[in-house]
Amino acid sequence: MRIDIITCLPRLLDSFFAHSILQRAQQGGYVEVVAHDLRDYTADKHRRVDDYAFGGGAGMVMQIEPIARCIRTLQADRVYDEVIYMTPDGERLNQQTTNTLSLRQNLIILCGHYKGVDERVRELFITKEISIGDYVLSGGELAACVLSDAIIRLLPGVLNDETSALTDSFQDNLLAPPVYTRPAEFEGHRIPDILLSGHEAKIDEWRHEQALERTRIRRPDLLEP
Ligand code: ADE
Repeated sequence: MRIDIITCLPRLLDSFFAHSILQRAQQGGYVEVVAHDLRDYTADKHRRVDDYAFGGGAGMVMQIEPIARCIRTLQADRVYDEVIYMTPDGERLNQQTTNTLSLRQNLIILCGHYKGVDERVRELFITKEISIGDYVLSGGELAACVLSDAIIRLLPGVLNDETSALTDSFQDNLLAPPVYTRPAEFEGHRIPDILLSGHEAKIDEWRHEQALERTRIRRPDLLEP
């Protein structure tokens, strides 16, 4: 898979993708993540990528020309399955969307800033708009990192068995059950006996019940049809 991220702050993404699972995923050849500096695609001598909003009002708007030039340059080299715009008024990100996107070959992710992008960018180039929650970030970069992380960890081979994505919260619409590690007792607090029983089927059953119970209490909306 290849993910191209269009941003006016490419350095902001560097450290995020240079560590841990995301770094290993790239080194292992499971994913290629490339950040593109939008300022490299502007004809403006001051490398500006934004301008005042028509009609007035506070806040700058990202211009269409550099974005169009950047997306078209990328599309000249490969076919993209989706051109995603990170925006608080997009469709709320969930596990189902990340599952679906993890099956794609090539993705473009556009990060917004200021008051957002000229509406014509959305009409002409964007195929999917995603929000990571009902709050406004100062830019789409963090949101793009969240989305990329959620996708990349699902790529076959990226996680080993112990950290398997299949047992994550939200797979099967259930929260994950509680987990414990050594010591089996801490200051009088013991782990549930069943986990020491060695009875695999019973442990699986216990975990499923715990997942159901936790979901019922914390996120009953996930259990609604
Ligand atoms: N850009 C700013 N806020 C955002 C959000 N909540 N989700 C996605 N992109 C954003």
